[in-house]
Amino acid sequence: MKIVHIIPTFNEKENIGQIIEVITLVGKKYPQWQNEILVVDDYSPDGTAQLVIKLQKKYRHLHLLQKKKEGLGRALIYGYDYAIKKLKADVVIPNDADFQWDPKDFPKLIRKIEEGYDVVVASRHIKGGSVIGWNWFRKLNHDISNYLLAWWVAGVKEVKDHAGNFKALRVKGYLDKVPLSQMENAGFSFQLHILYELSKVGAKFIEVPVVFRERKLGQSKIGFNRYYLRDIIEYIRSSILIRLERSPSFFKYLVVGGTGFTIQLVLEYLLILIGHFEESNAVSLGAEAAIISNFFLNNYWTFSGKKIRGLRLLRKFLQFNFVSIGSIIIQKAVIMIGTIFISRDIYFVLILNVITIIFLVIPYSYFIYNRFIWKTKKK
Ligand code: GDD
Ligand code: MN
Repeated sequence: MKIVHIIPTFNEKENIGQIIEVITLVGKKYPQWQNEILVVDDYSPDGTAQLVIKLQKKYRHLHLLQKKKEGLGRALIYGYDYAIKKLKADVVIPNDADFQWDPKDFPKLIRKIEEGYDVVVASRHIKGGSVIGWNWFRKLNHDISNYLLAWWVAGVKEVKDHAGNFKALRVKGYLDKVPLSQMENAGFSFQLHILYELSKVGAKFIEVPVVFRERKLGQSKIGFNRYYLRDIIEYIRSSILIRLERSPSFFKYLVVGGTGFTIQLVLEYLLILIGHFEESNAVSLGAEAAIISNFFLNNYWTFSGKKIRGLRLLRKFLQFNFVSIGSIIIQKAVIMIGTIFISRDIYFVLILNVITIIFLVIPYSYFIYNRFIWKTKKK
């Protein structure tokens, strides 16, 4: 079995020599596997590639790909493609250069491939796995991308840890079926996207617990830098696209929400401008219109399979209104305060209303909805 270890690097001169050595030494204990190492370097200014070229004289199984600086995602796409087509890998194992994922763990991943799994993910979030040394900012970033976006928005539930680089992937029948050349991820959204693509070709997933440590030497490239915003937006975009492809009802859900939102704002505008309604009353009526629109569109379109009728429909409608009453109160209160203390300008009112919906009403409804669901489950 031919294993290709893929190490993306950007300024990893202090680490790269050592990780090549460790992978080589561990590999020697398992003569049944043929280990090759592929470094994908973005012309690191610190001379990482020059060091690799020097090491190639000592290590015949060491390969180097050099390309312009395009981000971690692109480096991995290039690397995977090269490992499959040029190096004829049976299994690829990407890893970081900085020893945060212990390269000595790779035989544990390969064992699972031998057992018949196709995607083996090193995981910090199953029993036995953990993270050492994250500050709150790093943790918050990870939790938002991992739980909120990858798990909840994208709905990729094959694994619990979506963000890491360290994994073992079977090539034949799985990774070679993934359209790598069509993947456009520049940043770390690649990690989620590749898992999703592998799920589509029917791969069998498993996680192996590992400890994620602090970087050994050098500096992290991912975090609050000039690529931060680009990478986050890309991650959100990927998560939504994955969800839309996986479950079209989510798309309906977005359309229903968008329609209610539009109806609400147009109605408020007309009530204030033409009907001369007091602003907070107009907003209450607008909010009620959105609730009615959401309810009926969801009933007749999103969930048309389990449509309800007659008296039951009326009961459900009242129940839905009852649950939503809090959102009307929130909106009315904010608009009352805003118009009394700041301005009665119509555009100010509408913008304030939009902000309220995004930052208060949506989280509030989400909270209420979850409690509601949770309650019915417990019964
Ligand atoms: N070629 C290339 N190009 N390599 C890169 C680039 C790039 O633009 N950016 C980062 N790398 C390399 C680094 O040199 C390192 O080997 C590896 O990718 C990970 O980068 P770090 O700088 O160590 O980032 P991290 O510790 O924050 O990464 C963590 O989060 C990522 C995303 O969630 C780890 O968990 C990664 O495994 C994970 O992919
Ligand atoms: Mn790192």
